[in-house]
Amino acid sequence: MDKSLQSKFNSLKSQELNIDLTRGKPGPEQLDLSNSLLDLSVPIHGEDGIDIRNYGEPLGIKEARELGSDVLSTPYEFTLVSEQSSLLLTYQIILGMYLRGLSRPWKDLDSPKFICPVPGFDRHFRILDDFNIGAIPVPLMGEGIDINALSQALESNDNVVGLICVPRHSNPSGDIFSDENIIAMLDLMKKSSKDSICIFDHAYLLHDFKDAKKQTPLWELIDRTSMLDRSAILTSFSKVTFAGGSIAFLAAGSAIFDLVNYQRGSMIVSPDKINQKRHTLLFKDKSDIEQHMKKHAEVLRPKFNLVIKLLKSLDPKLGSFKEPCGGYFISFNTSRRMAARTIEICSDLGVHLTPSGSTYPGFDDPNDNNIRLAPSVVSLTDIKKAMEVFKLALEISFSEAN
Ligand SMILES: Cc1ncc(COP(=O)(O)O)c(C=O)c1O
Repeated sequence: MDKSLQSKFNSLKSQELNIDLTRGKPGPEQLDLSNSLLDLSVPIHGEDGIDIRNYGEPLGIKEARELGSDVLSTPYEFTLVSEQSSLLLTYQIILGMYLRGLSRPWKDLDSPKFICPVPGFDRHFRILDDFNIGAIPVPLMGEGIDINALSQALESNDNVVGLICVPRHSNPSGDIFSDENIIAMLDLMKKSSKDSICIFDHAYLLHDFKDAKKQTPLWELIDRTSMLDRSAILTSFSKVTFAGGSIAFLAAGSAIFDLVNYQRGSMIVSPDKINQKRHTLLFKDKSDIEQHMKKHAEVLRPKFNLVIKLLKSLDPKLGSFKEPCGGYFISFNTSRRMAARTIEICSDLGVHLTPSGSTYPGFDDPNDNNIRLAPSVVSLTDIKKAMEVFKLALEISFSEAN
């Protein structure tokens, strides 16, 4: 290693840093915004008189379903509220499709496959892996999926049973899918098979921290393409109130809605209605939530601005990135095959990033160049330190790659 890089490395190493940028977690100031949930006195009855302490209401309490339908702009009768994880709902959709399916169970198919826009969310890939469902990576282009590549992927693969995407502030690329892109994607999925499904993980629906492009509500776009019976939309309040301690929502046309309801019935007698009630006391409607999310944006914006400023100051020969205007991530592409090495050097210096390859199915980043940065949970001081380490790690790995 070059002497000046080595001396910077030694100096940072001696600081014994321990900074975790691995996951998109809300920071403590964000969690504090919902502390009133901890003190709320929850009545024992829901608005329609049901006893929320008892079993029952598998689709969720009325007022929470109304809130979900307001947030997602979906019909009440096709919106359900569950316990604390939208990822669990995604799992339940895939489990239901695997065991039963719409017209045929996926378990009976030879090598079922999913379309996965990349870079993408590691937990989506992991769910597919649990069911031995192949993941076909299709690139994201900034405003959604590469439609030509999707068309080719659908033509050249049998048994594509679904697609899963994050249509707003995609994890980690930050893509906001345009209406045209969503419609083109749905049209292609519709034409390519009679029963493949589209899962829209709307985890960052409410999470703009800068001016961001508007998107027509997904339900409307899905309806326009007559794909309601083959689509599902999910979100949760994990990054609105408490991560892992909130409530989650699913909206889908009757076929998937009924299937998920059935599948959930094998697993759970009743969701946690007390937490549902608690959340509806905090938020009456979508506009309450939008006000609350502005406070989140105020906490997140300086953190993202700082990372972006420091990334912009890097020598462009090291790599490139696109500025997100919401969500929890920044996706950095190194100029050479050096993402794994950069992440390794960062880790040596006490800055922990999402493991290399995580943003691709099977941890297989074909160009070894994508790095996900998740600055939400750390302080501005730690972000500065972490970015100093990141810069040095890039410089070292770049010098090694040459
Ligand atoms: C795209 C995406 N979906 C789902 C989740 C998890 O959401 P939940 O806590 O509702 O399961 C995350 C969290 O990082 C995410 O980034």
